[in-house]
Amino acid sequence: MKKPIYLDYNGTTPLDPEVIAAMRPFLEEEFGNPSSSHWYGIAPKRAVAHARKQICALLNCQPEEIIFTSGGTESNNHAIIGIAFAYRNKGNHIITGKIEHPAVLEVCRFLEPLGFEVTYLDVDEFGIVPAASVEKAIRPETVLITIMHANNEVGTIQPVEEIAALARDRGIVMHTDAAQSVGKLPIDVQAMKVDLLSVAGHKIYAPKGIGALYVRTGINLRKFMFGAGQEMGWRAGTENVLEIVGLGRACEIAGRDLSKNMDHMRKMRDMLHAGIQSRLSEVRLNGHTEKRLSNTLSLSFHNLEANRILEEIGLDVAASAGAACHSDQIKISHVLEAINVPVDWAKGTLRFTTGRMTTETDITRAVDAIANGVERLSG
Ligand SMILES: Cc1ncc(COP(=O)(O)O)c(C=O)c1O
Repeated sequence: MKKPIYLDYNGTTPLDPEVIAAMRPFLEEEFGNPSSSHWYGIAPKRAVAHARKQICALLNCQPEEIIFTSGGTESNNHAIIGIAFAYRNKGNHIITGKIEHPAVLEVCRFLEPLGFEVTYLDVDEFGIVPAASVEKAIRPETVLITIMHANNEVGTIQPVEEIAALARDRGIVMHTDAAQSVGKLPIDVQAMKVDLLSVAGHKIYAPKGIGALYVRTGINLRKFMFGAGQEMGWRAGTENVLEIVGLGRACEIAGRDLSKNMDHMRKMRDMLHAGIQSRLSEVRLNGHTEKRLSNTLSLSFHNLEANRILEEIGLDVAASAGAACHSDQIKISHVLEAINVPVDWAKGTLRFTTGRMTTETDITRAVDAIANGVERLSG
């Protein structure tokens, strides 16, 4: 049986064969604890240090500014809770946006009953948080601004540099969730002027369960995991050496092949979009046409239900839904709601995301399956 074409790279990515090769010795032989002072600790310790440098090379930072985490969710939790508590004496106000990932929104909601005030900023019709709205929302007691680099559902890229410059001028800490942009956009924490940045391994062809948090030197952050002194004391627990090695290699590849991969993903995505448009008329693109990740295509099919389309095309295409219908209720994603996609369009929204492994043959087959499926459902 032919597997469905994988068009859900924003959901997760397969492992890169080069990542697997880098990890293999740590799966098979190098089992040592990097904290051990004997022979078995040497190679793992070196490997962790090397991975840290590989990540720094991608982000343009120093090794002591990287904390390994279990993924994007932990990085965001650590950044937001860590800053909120470390700067509690300075103020209690946090600014974020309405289309952030739940790994940011839920953390902010957790902080509210603990005495923090959060401003959830509106976005425009493309999903952009205007820097001017951030500026207006800043108060004397604002301690943190957290705005994602690129959105996971519609791919919109935020003016992070502009927002971070506002934050820096006012002595406010700036965090960005870059789970979707690492490997898809150039990242330079110096140029971006951000103080904290979250990385998720499984979006960049490394394994699930590993990530990193960049923390600029001088930024005060409350400890997240208490125990022994690993990760410069920020996050206790014996290092996940195997996956740290995988993440390091994945970051090296992400930097090395960035422009080639961006071009390829864009070509595949635009071919998919053009193919679908040539077959169907009732299709609408969500998000910004240009200020958007080169692999992301959020399409709404008029008056259809996303899950019905996914069922219809499921043997041929793996994509994700932007809305879910349960009996007579339609639950539209908070992102589509925030960008004001009308319900008759929003309920039929699918996210197609291409990746390094997507081929033209995949796209040809996907276009056929999607167009035929939608035509059958539209009667
Ligand atoms: C923008 C964004 N932030 C955070 C996360 C969470 O990352 P992880 O799955 O590594 O916990 C995701 C995952 O979908 C994401 O897209």
